[in-house]
Amino acid sequence: MNKTLWGTDGNGNDIYTYEIAGKGGMKVKVMDFGATVLEIHVPDKNGNDVDVALGYEKLEDYFTNDPYFGCCVVPSANRIGGAKFTLNGKEYSLDVNDGENNLHSGFDSICHKMWQVTDEKDDSITFAYDKKDMELKFPGNVHMEVTYSVSDDNELRIDYMANSDEDTVFNPTNHSYFNLGGHDSGNAMDQLVWINSKKFTETDPHSIPNGKLVEVAGTPMDFTTEKTLAQDIEADFNQLNWAGGYDHNYALEGQEGEVRLAAYMRDVNTGIKMEVLTDLPGMQLYAGNYIPDGELVGKSGKAYVRRGGVAFESQYFPNAINIPEFSQPVLKVGVEKKTTTIYRFSAN
Ligand code: BGC
Repeated sequence: MNKTLWGTDGNGNDIYTYEIAGKGGMKVKVMDFGATVLEIHVPDKNGNDVDVALGYEKLEDYFTNDPYFGCCVVPSANRIGGAKFTLNGKEYSLDVNDGENNLHSGFDSICHKMWQVTDEKDDSITFAYDKKDMELKFPGNVHMEVTYSVSDDNELRIDYMANSDEDTVFNPTNHSYFNLGGHDSGNAMDQLVWINSKKFTETDPHSIPNGKLVEVAGTPMDFTTEKTLAQDIEADFNQLNWAGGYDHNYALEGQEGEVRLAAYMRDVNTGIKMEVLTDLPGMQLYAGNYIPDGELVGKSGKAYVRRGGVAFESQYFPNAINIPEFSQPVLKVGVEKKTTTIYRFSAN
């Protein structure tokens, strides 16, 4: 465990970075501010170290971080339509921070809060955060934990745990952007993607799922056979036109609750392949369409380009809390919730 002081949060809290490593060459750097993932180093096909996660050079940039680079998004990832939901007969109004809707929980994001380290080892670290009742306008005093562990065979495993004193929404995700050619290698659209999904959640023009699950077959949304992201991303298809490219939730095949393969991405130059595994029902494929071209200075001092990284966000379906037919992201009072997502790396 390599612990380093990086700076302060402006409220008198010291921010530390922590590097965890496995014996297979993988190293991951995280920080206690937002329980954010900063760097993911994996060996390429020649054994060279490649950092495949987008992130900033300067700590201050994490204080805004509009694209949510590396964030642990809690309690509610992605969008809730109309920024409203009803639970146990009570209506809750959330921050309206994305058009008419709620995105990633709201303005005063827990991505910008100090988390407490509760356990640290050479290959893993656990952060905890206690959300107060009605913080971010979500009910319940919620104790949340996230554990990042690196295995000797180059997996980054993310375990979430939560419990609450009231029924509430809990839909955590990690918001890392990946570029398997290296975080600063430019546009990631030539990378090949496969997704274990035959249906995606159709959205309205503002990326809010309308409750329909639509077959990917015969559409540009189909990743059941691997293809580059570039191949169909500019297709003239309403869903893509509205979202500016891939920014959609895929309904994953296999049993919710069991950790199974959700997707992979691979880069032919570095030979690096990343498999995504999760026990959650869905995964947002987000192609970095809204990364402002050439504006955000990354870790090597170079500005990132639009679509320079791709997020694979395991989750309950966006807006599920308003669509009873979808699996519900509800954390019940007194019932501990656990969920796991794994990013597994290999190279050849
Ligand atoms: C959303 C995008 C959004 C991005 C950054 C993703 O999870 O699906 O629409 O732009 O997060 O907030």
